[in-house]
Amino acid sequence: MNIETLLNKKIDEKKQGNILDIKTLIRGNKKLYIESYGCQMNFSDSEIVASILCKENFSTTKNINEADLVFVNTCSIRDKAEQTVRKRLQLYNSIKKTTNPKMVVGVLGCMAERLKEKFLEEEKLVDIVVGPDAYRDLPNLIKQVEDGRKAVNVFLSREETYADISPVRLSGNGVTAFVSITRGCDNMCTFCVVPYTRGRERSRDPKSIINECAKLVSEGYKEVTLLGQNVDSYLWYGGGPKKDYNKASENQKNTSVSFANLLEKVAKINKKLRVRFSTSNPQDMTDDVINIMAKHKNICNYIHLPVQSGSSRILKLMNRGYDREEYIILIDKIKKKIPDCSISMDIITGFCSETDSDHNETLSLMKYVKYDYGYMFKYSERPNTAAEKKYKDDISEEKKQIRLVEIINLQQKQSLENNKNRINKTYEVLIEGVSKKSDLHYYGRTTHNCVVVFEKNNYKIGDYVNVKINDCSAGTLKGKII
Ligand code: 5AD
Ligand code: SF4
Repeated sequence: MNIETLLNKKIDEKKQGNILDIKTLIRGNKKLYIESYGCQMNFSDSEIVASILCKENFSTTKNINEADLVFVNTCSIRDKAEQTVRKRLQLYNSIKKTTNPKMVVGVLGCMAERLKEKFLEEEKLVDIVVGPDAYRDLPNLIKQVEDGRKAVNVFLSREETYADISPVRLSGNGVTAFVSITRGCDNMCTFCVVPYTRGRERSRDPKSIINECAKLVSEGYKEVTLLGQNVDSYLWYGGGPKKDYNKASENQKNTSVSFANLLEKVAKINKKLRVRFSTSNPQDMTDDVINIMAKHKNICNYIHLPVQSGSSRILKLMNRGYDREEYIILIDKIKKKIPDCSISMDIITGFCSETDSDHNETLSLMKYVKYDYGYMFKYSERPNTAAEKKYKDDISEEKKQIRLVEIINLQQKQSLENNKNRINKTYEVLIEGVSKKSDLHYYGRTTHNCVVVFEKNNYKIGDYVNVKINDCSAGTLKGKII
């Protein structure tokens, strides 16, 4: 069929209301709209998904009304995260009924993995359900839907790392990018659903990580964040689950690459490339990692080190693998080797059986560490986790809330104090974008991950500038380029 006949055919179809967007079809181009919730890993996975579908003639759109395919990459970490996704699905439903009847709806990520086929029963609008390790199968699953069937793949892999897939940078400012280095988690914290939704821990081939980072540098990126549920546990010995490392050959063991090795390799790619990583688990963070951070100026002086609770009794119930004293020893070690290192945390309030005295231990630990900032949550019981099976979710919602407000208030106070101590100091800032509040200002971050707002002058996004701090709030520093 020549192009003219094809065009006429499409115009006829359009007249009959079969297709809505002729332009799209002439280019043989379908539109993907993708929304992501939850952790940075989900945002990074969506970039893998976009890459897989770009090879299938899809291009991405920010306008859901013109989308042929709508994906929501979901989070199961707390009940609230799941409710957010349910609300989005309701919205998609109304869009499908009114402005975009042709759209196919798919659910990706942790909620897809947790609910599996049940999703199709619970949300009639959903056509595709795909777990985090099955994205390579998306072209087949989409074909199934085009053939009039619903499609599900929630297979969890022992090896999949998507190492060879070059992500399409979706959220991009062209300056900072996420690079995933591990998938899954073996830690089995009793409150956490991630080991069930993302499967066994495995590491990505360091060569593919280095290549991706080097490519980003050549494209003008200035910062990479190495991503994993538990980055310090990274271990490359030729592929496969971390827990099978002891079955590896002597040669594999001798040539294995640890997180500290990887961090150094990435830092050496280019001195001007800032390197960050997230998330660290206190039980897996080694001295080697701290030493490598201290050695390389371009590895940022910032560690996200979730503590979850300041009470050793609660940490034991959480199966975190460290107690209060060990956590404090680690913090002291970091501060000794990298005096200027900023530290952030995650804390859960109201975990099963948490007493006022446990809660006070959390507050006192916060006072000791003086975190730069933190993410604080009420405990949310997750189906099928060890905590759900073994313990009672016995702290009332009111008590969880009171304790949460208390730790948030303390953190706000400490963040403000820390920021005040930065006034009159000068920091190197990487410019990331235009300030949301003023077109005349940029925002960027210091090595400590502090957000700084300052007048643009003649600089551009992606430049490094020295900014002298003259004002602050709990969340933001303000200053002047010098
Ligand atoms: N309830 C509340 N918070 C949770 N987190 C993980 N699971 C739960 C849960 N069941 C928090 C932890 C973790 C962060 C990513 O989410 O603090 O570090
Ligand atoms: Fe969940 Fe613990 Fe693994 Fe983090 S380390 S993903 S909290 S099981």
